[in-house]
Amino acid sequence: MAQVAADLAEKITQLKQAKKAVILAHNYQLPEVQDIADFVGDSLALSQMAAGTAADTIVFCGVHFMAETAAIICPEKQVLIPDLEAGCSLASSINADELVSWIHEHPNAIVVSYVNTTAEVKALSDYCCTSSNAVRVVNSIPADKEILFLPDMFLGSYVADITKRKNMFVWPGECHVHAGIRAQDINQMLRTNKTAELLVHPECSCTSSTLYDIGSGQVQKNAHILSTEGMMKYVRSSSAKQFLIATETGILHRMRNENRQKEFIPIKDDAVCKYMKKITLEKVYNSICNGVYEVKVPDRIADKARLSIQRMIELA
Ligand code: 13P
Ligand code: SF4
Repeated sequence: MAQVAADLAEKITQLKQAKKAVILAHNYQLPEVQDIADFVGDSLALSQMAAGTAADTIVFCGVHFMAETAAIICPEKQVLIPDLEAGCSLASSINADELVSWIHEHPNAIVVSYVNTTAEVKALSDYCCTSSNAVRVVNSIPADKEILFLPDMFLGSYVADITKRKNMFVWPGECHVHAGIRAQDINQMLRTNKTAELLVHPECSCTSSTLYDIGSGQVQKNAHILSTEGMMKYVRSSSAKQFLIATETGILHRMRNENRQKEFIPIKDDAVCKYMKKITLEKVYNSICNGVYEVKVPDRIADKARLSIQRMIELA
């Protein structure tokens, strides 16, 4: 089995060079997919890589909105996703019609969309953001301007807490994986791992209570709310030896590989995104071999969406 995977990985590497393709993978991808990628990172870093690559083809090992974002930034490149079924429950929690109705209720508001949204939703947005720059994006908007923040309610309330913004309305969307990481899961793990540092992704439903517990001194340990790449940077520089990780478990592969002397414990073993795991080595091979499945965004949508994505990259 291991030999089959190694042969496939070798074939992918050869094909990639022949076709001048680059493979970008999100931190939640399967270990073997991360291992054949040219670059592994969070949503923001992957957008930056897509914007800067000289390759003709981008094979995007992540979910559909990420490939769409790359296609919007690089309209002259071929962007492929190995499985069109790799969706995102959070991105599906708001569509363009729902956003149009919401904007009608707040005609003067600035629309800030998390990158986990469809191209149509981005086209209706003033700013796009990721978990690593959401606070910076909101802080860049004049304090007297109303903000519509979408679609993640946990990230939204975290950003409102940090920025102390009172005029920010938050869409009630959630990611099914992170919503399942609850305050009681954190508290239980804290009781049994007393010396570990705690890292929490802001999409988790426990984010606000964790922030409150840190602020009120109930959580004495070092606890940090970070994007997936923020977590990677943090564990690299911290002198701690043990970390509790509250996010999708795919990130543990890279954490363990890059930090051999440290221990990483998932808050929930079953925090697994079935959409991210749709991408397999076989599908990556098929994708690069047959040029499938091309992700294209119509110009009239891409041209509008690009502006909000560019603002996100400028505020990285
Ligand atoms: P990051 O941008 O932190 O990698 O998060 C992306 C995502 O889909 C989280 O569920
Ligand atoms: Fe979407 Fe959640 Fe999967 Fe991230 S983990 S891609 S937000 S469903």
